[in-house]
Order: sequence, then structure tokens, then C-alpha cells
Amino acid sequence: MEQATAQQQSVNIVTEVPGPKSVELAKRSAAALPDALSLVHPIYVDHAHGATVTDVDGNTFIDWIGGVGVMNVGHTHEAVTAAIIAQAQKFTHTDYTIVPYETYVRLCERLNASVPISGHVKTSLFNTGAETVENAVKISRVATGKSGVVCFSGAFHGRSLMAMTLTSKVHPYRAGFGPYAPEVYRAPYANPFDFDGDAEAASASALAELKKMTKTHFAAEDIACVIVEPVQGEGGFIVPPTSFLQGLRDFCDEHGAILVFDEVQSGMGRTGTLWATEQLGVEPDLILSAKSIAAGMVLSAVIGKAEVLDKVPDSGIGGTYPGNPIACEAAHAVLDAWEDGLLDRAKLVGERMKDAFDALAAEDDGIGESRGLGSMRALEFSKPGTRLPDPARVDAVQAHAQQHGLLMHKAGTGGNIIRVLVPLVITDAQLEESLTILRNAIEATRA
Ligand SMILES: Cc1ncc(COP(=O)(O)O)c(C=O)c1O
Repeated sequence: MEQATAQQQSVNIVTEVPGPKSVELAKRSAAALPDALSLVHPIYVDHAHGATVTDVDGNTFIDWIGGVGVMNVGHTHEAVTAAIIAQAQKFTHTDYTIVPYETYVRLCERLNASVPISGHVKTSLFNTGAETVENAVKISRVATGKSGVVCFSGAFHGRSLMAMTLTSKVHPYRAGFGPYAPEVYRAPYANPFDFDGDAEAASASALAELKKMTKTHFAAEDIACVIVEPVQGEGGFIVPPTSFLQGLRDFCDEHGAILVFDEVQSGMGRTGTLWATEQLGVEPDLILSAKSIAAGMVLSAVIGKAEVLDKVPDSGIGGTYPGNPIACEAAHAVLDAWEDGLLDRAKLVGERMKDAFDALAAEDDGIGESRGLGSMRALEFSKPGTRLPDPARVDAVQAHAQQHGLLMHKAGTGGNIIRVLVPLVITDAQLEESLTILRNAIEATRA
């Protein structure tokens, strides 16, 4: 891997990490905030731009987290910032369904035209990813007159009651928070890694199990929707084969259920296309979007077939804040960025990451798999010679990288996946610099 030259370096570490000001702030945080709000990187941000974050102590890091997949177009993207300022000077809130405004309508029109869903498509805006999940379930239930929901092992859909129930990982997301929402059934996700890389075997097994569950767990005709991440995010960037998603499509068609693709993490350019669904060849009824849709402004969307969304009775969905005008204007600037060529950059970043990650996996027997779609890339760490998760190694890699100026955030139900959600505006030099830091961290933590 080519070494970044001194002139090219973006990372600049000038104090201990975390620095003294961050340490002070973390103490105040511990005293003032509940213990549940612990800090992955106790480094307090002063400013951020593109793919870098500078803290209050003057240290600059390369950011592979991007606000957990929110900053795909980069921090303080010029056009996004300008759009936010301009809208803030016009008006900041009316509540769209009380006193409407044009930017909401135009955004829905653009989103409708963007999704790989055939026929008449409509969009309803919300605030968070979890809210889209709650609403997708409500919409599916009212549209079908049924109540059952099928979700998957390894899924993450958020932290509200229904979203938490649909989420798979027990600690820390579910334990102690029951009782959970009723009528939710969890089927296996098709994870090729569990089948020695044989994606079709993974798919056949998962679909067979789903079929079996219709005898042992629920009646297929009672299912309102099947909700699935077309590429799993928090579960570890797992890319199922098309046959698995097609099997879910067939199940929904056969039993009159709605197929919901949760693209909260995989959408908005992360995989090299606006939606991962575009590359997977299966058409859902609803697509959920949040995170990078408005580059840090709070916005989310349920996009899908008009015949489904229009089944909801008047005022059955909505809220005070959905489709806030500042967030809508930010989202327009984000969509402009994709249309203006950032998708090409996303593809290039994904290709370079894939080559580098494949090479790292080939030379370290603690890396079980290099995988992903586009720039949604991950390394799965396993105890050498086994498929057992190695979260301690991942923690060590993450800590080493942090000390050397690269911020990363792990994933996976076993906490053993290094994943990349880097802003896609990262420069070539920053990409090489960050890959060098990762390589050094992997070498330094090799047993
Ligand atoms: C696939 C997926 N769905 C839903 C959510 C929940 O989104 P939010 O945190 O905005 O509620 C997330 C968050 O990570 C996610 O990755």
C-alpha cells in the first residue's frame, strides 16, 4: 500500500488522545448524562469538513464513521450548508399538513422518481430511521388488514418499541426493555459467511427455515409485512444473494404481504448507487430512508407503492416535525450532489477499499472475511482457524487506529466487524493515509 507523503497528510495529532479539553468534557458528560450515553470516541468535535474531524484540542482525524452513515456527502458540504442557511432565513417550521410548503412536495417527487419501484410511487416524510420502521409496520397493517411482521436475525431497525422488537442484538438493545411488541417473528438472514462463503446455500437454508416457521410459529396468511435490510448494516455489512431477497418477494406475493426494504444505512449512495436495491434485482413495495438523506439534518422517508401508502386513513400517519423545511432543503442539496457525480466517486472509493480489504484479509488469518457492496465495506475478525468472533481484536484495532488519527466504529452481533461509513468525498490521499493507519493497527494487534 502506498505511503501517504508528509504534504498529503490530513491527520494531525498534537496532544494525547483524548486531549485535555476532551477529557474535561467527558467528565462533565459522565456527571450530567445517563451512564447509557457512553462515548465510543471521547473526542469532542470542534469542527469537521469532508472526511476529517478536528477536536477541541486541535487534533485532526480521518473519519470512517461519518456520524454512523449520515455524512455520505461529507461534513459541511458547501451546497448543503448554503441550503440550510438560506432556508433558516426564510422559515423554519409550520407543520406541513397544517400549512404546507413546496420544498416538501418537490423532495417527495424526486424521491419517488429515484427508487427502483414500478408504478405510481408516493413518499411520506418522517424524522428518524426508527420512525420509518414504526410507520412501515402501521402502513402495512392497515393496507393488508393483517398484523404479523417477519424480521431477521442480525437485523437492526432502531430503538423505539416496534423497531427495538424487530432489532436482533439482545445486549444492549433489547435486554430489560420488554415486553416487546407482539406479532413479530424472527427468521434467519442469509449470511454467506455461515456457509463457508456459499451464498446460495445460505439463501436456501434461510428460505427453508422461513417456510418451516409457517408451520411452527405463524400462519403465512397473517403476515402484514416482511421487513429486511437488503444489505445488513449493524449486523455486519452482510450482503445476501439475490435469491434470498427474491424468495422474500415470492413469499410476500404468495401470501399478500408487503415487502419492506430498510435502506436507512445502505441507501443514499453508500453502495455506489443511490439505493442498494438497484444492484440487487428485487423490487420491494416500500423503501425506508434516513441517515444520509439530509446530511445530518433530521429527516427520513417511507417511499413506496401509492396503492399501499394510500390505504392509510386521513391523518393516520404524520407528526409535528416530519419534513422540516430546513431538512428538506438539505436533502435537495444531497440529491443534487449525487446527480452531479458523487455516485462515481462512491464507486471508486468502494473499489479501492475492496482491493485494500481483500489484501488485508489474505495476509491475516484473524480476518475471516472481507465483504461488502460498493463502499459499504467490512472486515470480519474471527479467532484464527475458526469462525468464532474476535471482538477483542477489533477493539484493539479500533483503539490503535484512534491513537493514530483514524476514527472507526465496529459492528456485528459479535462486535467483531470493522465497517466503513466514510464520507464519500474522501480524497485519494486521505483514503491511502487512512488505509495505512488501518494496516498498521492490524499489524500491531496481530498475535
Ligand atoms: C438499517 C437501519 N434501520 C433503522 C435504523 C434506526 O435509525 P435511527 O437511529 O435514525 O432511528 C438504523 C440506525 O442505525 C439502521 O441502520
